[in-house]
Amino acid sequence: MTDITVIGSNMIDLITYLDRMPVEGETIEAPSFEMGFGGKGANQAVAAARLGSDVAMITMVGNDEFGKQQLQNFKTNQINTAGVGIGSCSSGTAPIFVDPTSDNRILIIKGANAELTPAVLDQHQDLIRQTKLIVLQQEVPLETNYHAIDLAQQFGIPVLLNPAPANRELNVDYVSKVQFFTPNETELATLTGMPTTNLMEIEAAAQHLISRGVSNIIVTVGSKGALWVTVNGSQLIPGQHVHAVDTTGAGDSFIGSFAHYFAAGEPIPVALRHANEYASVTVTRYGTQKSYPTLAELDQVQTAPVRR
Ligand code: RIB
Ligand code: NA
Repeated sequence: MTDITVIGSNMIDLITYLDRMPVEGETIEAPSFEMGFGGKGANQAVAAARLGSDVAMITMVGNDEFGKQQLQNFKTNQINTAGVGIGSCSSGTAPIFVDPTSDNRILIIKGANAELTPAVLDQHQDLIRQTKLIVLQQEVPLETNYHAIDLAQQFGIPVLLNPAPANRELNVDYVSKVQFFTPNETELATLTGMPTTNLMEIEAAAQHLISRGVSNIIVTVGSKGALWVTVNGSQLIPGQHVHAVDTTGAGDSFIGSFAHYFAAGEPIPVALRHANEYASVTVTRYGTQKSYPTLAELDQVQTAPVRR
């Protein structure tokens, strides 16, 4: 039995810190570069594991040096690797550009992540059956997520679907079967075709999905925090203001830590407050997974106390 099974992607992040983007035909120098472990699925798994959850990962790494490193990284983070397969092509990679305001631009090359098929999930049904929460994102084929949702429903396991990156093709019938749907403003707008420029619009768009059957929608609104929407209305769980240097993977750290606290039995608003706190620490540090604190490190960081 595990606390959380993450079904999803892993990528090697190739992060360039730049002063500005070059224009067409221009060559400019960038101050620095870093390579590290990323991929939305792996990031969420690592955040939850560093906080102390028992995490299993179902993912495909490439048949290259990066794939070996990914496998080792899961082990280092004490993640169950029974569901980690080796694909027939190169590992997923993500060239990322971070500007001086800490914002990022990300390209993903799926590589072996495209080989995480529904058939692969069938080989790991035990990891899906014996867990408290299943966590999904959208860097693997949509059919794989649909199959995961079907299996989870069959086994009575709750699902958190993080619809990132946004995909217009996502079938709302499947969205309506999950317990937690966690888009950001842009992803929510893409899916509903409704505006999401302020909290009122966000709530209206989320309510539109609630009326289709989703139980909880958690819309991440950057440093403003997270808006939790249910059939009973909405609640803003405010974020913390910190000096951000690199926001890469902050959303994933939020999801992973929310999953951890939820699986640990915390009420949803408390889990969300902890998740805001966790994500706010990651943006003050450079790198993706590299910036995710362990529980021990988190205790040492001076941030506003989490109130119940
Ligand atoms: O959400 C951030 C992540 O998106 C990066 O780690 C990158 O790999 C892409 O998957
Ligand atoms: Na960071």
